[in-house]
Amino acid sequence: MKQIGAVGLMLAILTGCVGGGEAPVENKVEEQAYTQPIHSYALPNEAVVKHLNLDVEVSFDEQKISGWATYDIETSADAQKVVFDVKDLDIKSVKVDDSLTTEWWLGDPREFMGQSLEIAIKPEVKQVSIEYSTTDGAEALQWLNPQQTAGKEHPFLFTQSQAILARTWLPCQDSPGIRYTYEATVKVPSGLLALMSAENPVAVDSSGVYQFKMDQPIPSYLMALSVGNLEFQAIGDRTGVYAEPSVLAAAAYEFADMQKMLVSAEKIYGPYAWERYDVIVLPPSFPFGGMENPRLTFATPTILAGDRSLTALVAHELAHSWSGNLVTNATWNDFWLNEGFTVYFERRIMEDVYGKEYANMLAILGRQDLGHTIEAFKDTPDDTKLKLALDGRNPDEGMSDIAYEKGYFLLRTLEENVGRERFDAFLNSHFSGNAFKTIDTEQFLKNLKADLLDGDMEKYKSLKIDEWVYEAGIPENCAVVESGLFAQVEAQLDTFMQGANASDLDTANWTTHHWLHFLRSIPASISTDQMATLDKAFGFTNTGNSEIACEWFVLSINKGYSAADEAIEDFLVTVGRRKFLSPIYGALAEADPTLERPRKIYEQARPNYHSVSTNTLDALLKVSN
Ligand code: BES
Ligand code: ZN
Repeated sequence: MKQIGAVGLMLAILTGCVGGGEAPVENKVEEQAYTQPIHSYALPNEAVVKHLNLDVEVSFDEQKISGWATYDIETSADAQKVVFDVKDLDIKSVKVDDSLTTEWWLGDPREFMGQSLEIAIKPEVKQVSIEYSTTDGAEALQWLNPQQTAGKEHPFLFTQSQAILARTWLPCQDSPGIRYTYEATVKVPSGLLALMSAENPVAVDSSGVYQFKMDQPIPSYLMALSVGNLEFQAIGDRTGVYAEPSVLAAAAYEFADMQKMLVSAEKIYGPYAWERYDVIVLPPSFPFGGMENPRLTFATPTILAGDRSLTALVAHELAHSWSGNLVTNATWNDFWLNEGFTVYFERRIMEDVYGKEYANMLAILGRQDLGHTIEAFKDTPDDTKLKLALDGRNPDEGMSDIAYEKGYFLLRTLEENVGRERFDAFLNSHFSGNAFKTIDTEQFLKNLKADLLDGDMEKYKSLKIDEWVYEAGIPENCAVVESGLFAQVEAQLDTFMQGANASDLDTANWTTHHWLHFLRSIPASISTDQMATLDKAFGFTNTGNSEIACEWFVLSINKGYSAADEAIEDFLVTVGRRKFLSPIYGALAEADPTLERPRKIYEQARPNYHSVSTNTLDALLKVSN
């Protein structure tokens, strides 16, 4: 795409720089167009990928993805090599512009970074192809046997590439600052459907061969693939859901408002850039709530509460279509630009679709989470800065509620200070002006000063923006959110603690969020008898709502309320979502410092978890694998 412009070419001819009578080359990287990535070996200013043609086969028998990754590249005038990231990949052969070469090298492996793959090139090279296969170590991949799926008859595979796991399933320049378009041919066992973060099929093809196309440039962390016994159901004309057949109807019911969310999002921050928005509901071992793979959000089934109460997650992943996928954090140190903006946008969508009171409940729960995270990080306060310092560290360490909720509260504070109209105009031009680009914190602050604050440095200082971004903790000008609904919840809890019957509490019309606030507000003085009474009246132990269950299980463990034990174990062996596993195992570990009980459960549950979750839990429970 980037070519020497006409003026540049004229200059080159006039100054005699187009040497030796050769035709001018048109695949040039603009000088220093990229900041050097911090979690990638790639040297994009020397040679950078522009387009990928992936041609792979997925073998469930061998638990391997293998084939060719062919990249179109842009080079600098003196380029000598193109560098990729690989981790636990088996590199079989390399071609440069269609000829096999032996001039390639793997660097020494480093923890979490993997290895560099360096391929010798000349500046005029336009394409490199890498033949490879994944290995058993591939951390992005989770291979599920039929027993681990809803239907129990077919195997399942999904990938999770963010933050730096894409390099474990394909060689890539694995930096959020490097974008490329892609096409793919993926062969899977006949009868299964393959889906990617791309234009997708809606039904099984008996050949087992699927073609994909992603025409908008994306960074590698948004590469995604899922293979299984999957069906599609439309929601609106641009939205739909994929799931295993036995889950599909429940998923379509739960996400009925998806199209409304999409329309609302466009109304707030401009046109949706990715054509379709679909969601795939994965098996319960998916380690996240959701992942914003472009055109196809990957989601946990634990949001299928049956009452559409946990769909803020869909609004969140949809919002990433602007913040993250369209305007991308330049490095993982700027992660708050992805997540903080997305939480802000998520709550704006929720407000538009369900009203201000609903969105404010979400914000207050978020504020509580933020308080706990700051407390949990009291020994490493630097990790509570918005701008992170993850150089030399695994980026996963920085991916906490700080980016999400401190980021959200900075944006909400700004909105309240300048007014919504002005703030929305600013964000609209932020998204349109930076579309398909990356941005770092410093560029964003520069734009904020110039465009939102018209260069008014006094205002900038009074908003304490540098303190928000570069210092620990929460500045004192943080927006305060209040909710009359939550005040009512607290009043009901008080009457219960003072002796009222649980069945006499006025809980009619309470939503999941009322209940979460109720559970979080329970005082430490509650007795196990009182817990039993609440459980009997409201059925917490056997709730089908994962958020309520997680809150209740942690409380039960802390209080020694053993009636929940069996439900806790069942939950832990089926659900692999790290956000739930960490607090539950954490509470079990605290209740039993010998770690005997949590380790026993973990031993049974671990085979069901993705590497994202086992990496965290191995460390928490001090087990080595
Ligand atoms: N992009 C994240 C998930 C992620 C973050 C994966 C960092 C790998 C590294 C996704 O958008 C997300 O934030 N998911 C949340 C849901 C949400 C509603 C806050 C989750 O999974 O809990
Ligand atoms: Zn997110």
